[in-house]
Amino acid sequence: MKPDSLTKYRPFPKVDLPDRQWPDHEITKAPLWCSVDLRDGNQALAVPMSVEEKLEMFQLLVGIGFKQIEVGFPSASDTEFAFMRRLVEDKLVPDDVQVQVLVQAREHLIRRTFESLAGAKNAIVHLYNSTSPLQRRVTFRDASQEEIKAIAVDGTTLVKSLVPTLPETSIAFQYSPESFSDTELEFSLEVCEDVMDAWQPSVESPIILNLPATVEWFTPNVHADQIEWFCKHLTRRDQALISLHTHNDRGTGTAATELGLMAGADRVEGTLFGNGERTGNLDIVTVALNMNSHGIETGLDFSQLSHIREVYERTTRMIVPERQPYGGELVFTAFSGSHQDAIKKGMDLQKPDAGEQHWAVPYLTVDPQDIGRSYEAIIRINSQSGKGGVAYVLDREYGLDLPKTMHPEVGLLVNSLADQLGEELSSEKIRDAFYSEFVNSETPLRLVDYELVHDKNAPGKVMCIAKVDRDGGIHIVRGEGNGPINAFTQALEAQGWKDFSLTDYRSHAMGSGSATDSAAYVQLQRDSDGALIWGCGIDPSIEMAGLRALVSACNRL
Ligand code: KIV
Ligand code: ZN
Repeated sequence: MKPDSLTKYRPFPKVDLPDRQWPDHEITKAPLWCSVDLRDGNQALAVPMSVEEKLEMFQLLVGIGFKQIEVGFPSASDTEFAFMRRLVEDKLVPDDVQVQVLVQAREHLIRRTFESLAGAKNAIVHLYNSTSPLQRRVTFRDASQEEIKAIAVDGTTLVKSLVPTLPETSIAFQYSPESFSDTELEFSLEVCEDVMDAWQPSVESPIILNLPATVEWFTPNVHADQIEWFCKHLTRRDQALISLHTHNDRGTGTAATELGLMAGADRVEGTLFGNGERTGNLDIVTVALNMNSHGIETGLDFSQLSHIREVYERTTRMIVPERQPYGGELVFTAFSGSHQDAIKKGMDLQKPDAGEQHWAVPYLTVDPQDIGRSYEAIIRINSQSGKGGVAYVLDREYGLDLPKTMHPEVGLLVNSLADQLGEELSSEKIRDAFYSEFVNSETPLRLVDYELVHDKNAPGKVMCIAKVDRDGGIHIVRGEGNGPINAFTQALEAQGWKDFSLTDYRSHAMGSGSATDSAAYVQLQRDSDGALIWGCGIDPSIEMAGLRALVSACNRL
């Protein structure tokens, strides 16, 4: 901001809460959840959802496990009204789900809302009016506190009087002092106490007092202070469910909700991926999965998050940002080499017999598979990536378990390719680069054919007779050793073609089953300068794979 504009803004307020308790509390259980995707979320869309789109979203929300769903603002438009009717008339609401409808505290709107509910089984009528000094002064043109209270109480009284008109419907009541976050706490409390007097809740049938951070003006600790203050001062706390409804103007809606829960709230309203006015509502996916990531059951099932994101993006025409917690495309992806190395090591320790009890993978708070994300995207390779990441991709995608000491050489190759191309490398490109440099190389030396002869009189010894092509000339070479690789090395030496010593050899089957290839890796040390060089052979025969690996390494010397 321009420095001289800062005088426009006020410093943070303080809540008078000398004995605040919430910093010592922890979240140990999930709140009641209410999705407001179909109302607050929908209200914020450039093109609001059609009835059919709302239906698809409703079914998605039911599938996730929401038991309270704010389905709309039926008095606000024909589409909203029609949607509520469709839910009732087509009997689309499961018996254990309460549909919530929002209405302003105005008589004709309340009556219209009740018309929309006829025949519903379980409903929450959600009444609101704005209470903050700013709204009182600017929006309601200097309305007094008494006038604002009267709006809330008259609205509540009307709702109460209309309840008997819907005998088939079990109706719960929710009141929101809209802009609570910006209202004097004493005044919010006074309004809510008066609303409770009018509604007459009970312990068995509590009122829902929803305390919205309609605009997120302050840091999350101030929000927590407000919630704790309110819970402490409310006279009939046991007859009210305290509900949070945070928006995200400062980018801390999640933190505000989490601290609000520590401060004593019972219920949380929010949307999938934080859709909603301006910077959005609270992202319920994040709060619920944050709880899951500490072992807390939430009653919400986000195990198919990619599917949820697909339906969300299609029906709302919004895009989930790539860095959105849990749901974003890139949030389980590491490009940087040191992160990739650490992730690979952590993932190895997660293998069933590696002895790790809990999820403990550096840089990943949860196992991507637990929310329906695959491991494929975890490590992606660009010029920032390192050897561990490249080895991880070759292993996971192609079953190539490279020896550790080979990683730097392969990493360097792939890294410089990414640098040179200036782009991210697909796993196919990585495989192609690896194959063309390291695997089954045939120039200048090519193994055409070979035969192994075992000497009965010298157990463990084997003679290798091989046909090789060297620079276009065919040669038959012979050597004896304690295994095929050793024997072939001797054969090369006998030809005067050996200027190395063999320093390492590994092999493994690629995958399982009888038709799988084997991969072998041979490391040679060059006599002239001691350089260590790897080669790889891949072949259906494990013996041939080893010989091909040796030839590949020779060709790279
Ligand atoms: O943000 C808000 O205050 C609201 C109310 C209507 C609950 O959405
Ligand atoms: Zn809202």
